Amino acid sequence: MQNKVTVVGAGNVGATLAQRLAEMEIADVVLVDIPQVEGMPQGKSLDIRESAPIYGYDGRVTGTTSYEATAGSDVVIITAGIPRKPGMSRDDLLNTNAAIVGSVTEQVARLSPKSILIIVSNPLDAMCLVALRTSKFPKSRVIGMAGVLDSARMRLFIAEALAVSVENVHAMVLGGHGDTMVPLPRFSTVNGIPVTELLPKETIEKINQRTRDGGAEIVKLLKTGSAYYAPSASAAEMTEAILKDKKKILPCAVYLEGEYGVNGVFVGVPAKLGRNGVESVVQLNLTVEERSALQKSAQAVKEVAAALK
Ligand code: NAI
Ligand code: 2OP
Repeated sequence: MQNKVTVVGAGNVGATLAQRLAEMEIADVVLVDIPQVEGMPQGKSLDIRESAPIYGYDGRVTGTTSYEATAGSDVVIITAGIPRKPGMSRDDLLNTNAAIVGSVTEQVARLSPKSILIIVSNPLDAMCLVALRTSKFPKSRVIGMAGVLDSARMRLFIAEALAVSVENVHAMVLGGHGDTMVPLPRFSTVNGIPVTELLPKETIEKINQRTRDGGAEIVKLLKTGSAYYAPSASAAEMTEAILKDKKKILPCAVYLEGEYGVNGVFVGVPAKLGRNGVESVVQLNLTVEERSALQKSAQAVKEVAAALK
């Protein structure tokens, strides 16, 4: 296959993502984990390959605990780290995952210097900063996955409230990947009709809150670990937009330098994704309230980033 994608972390998100990418036949996939779990990434990769004859795809998936096999990747998705447990916030993971993301980034940046990094590990916006600083890649090549997931959750909740197909629903969630994220009902539509014209205010507010709590809702139900089906689907959509140069506008965590009045942090904004990574940031015409919610969210991200050791 022409494209090569590395997925770092062969846990719930990483392994499910490797399976999705293989089924999409968009790249050869290398699934990497730590030597302490030798055999695990190899076993999961073999298992994914063994489902290929049934599903009828030819993508190669290789499991490894050595980075040599990742060399020359076009896209590297970092899912390595520890996930949330009940009662833990994403920010509780900060310094443990910062050390992991830092060391992973060092290795992938050395072996795949032209790659585009998609960060998944939490706390997302701070881990993007770690990856940007460690890789020294241009900001267009370090992108965080959160907005696609948060918007997908909002899309589902809107579709269920209106009993319409999820395919009809588009939603926009900006800001940091945390309690201060900013669902934007004005920019969320059902076949082009803003949800603000279709649902009462109270229902919209309930949907907004359920979206903000979306990750915690799954953690509470699972009891061990966090969501991975929707997160892996979200990272797969971003990877496809990049590899196929689709110029697709998706909400992504992007390093901002003045856009939306935010500077020096990763925050979720609508971004055009193509073969060069983030090709532009779309500037929405926000109301005073929406803009202030986004800036408040950026401030919360800054406070977490400031606690990075
Ligand atoms: P998991 O525990 O199932 O998998 C994590 C994997 O990372 C494990 O296999 C572990 O051995 C591996 N790992 C640890 N240190 C490593 C290193 N130095 N190099 C390579 N691999 C290493 O966790 P899960 O559920 O896959 O979540 C992974 C991360 O993604 C967590 O930080 C989680 O909070 C985050 N996440 C973020 C989302 C987002 O929207 N941005 C959504 C879902 C999860
Ligand atoms: C989520 O939103 C845990 O960040 C992860 O599901």
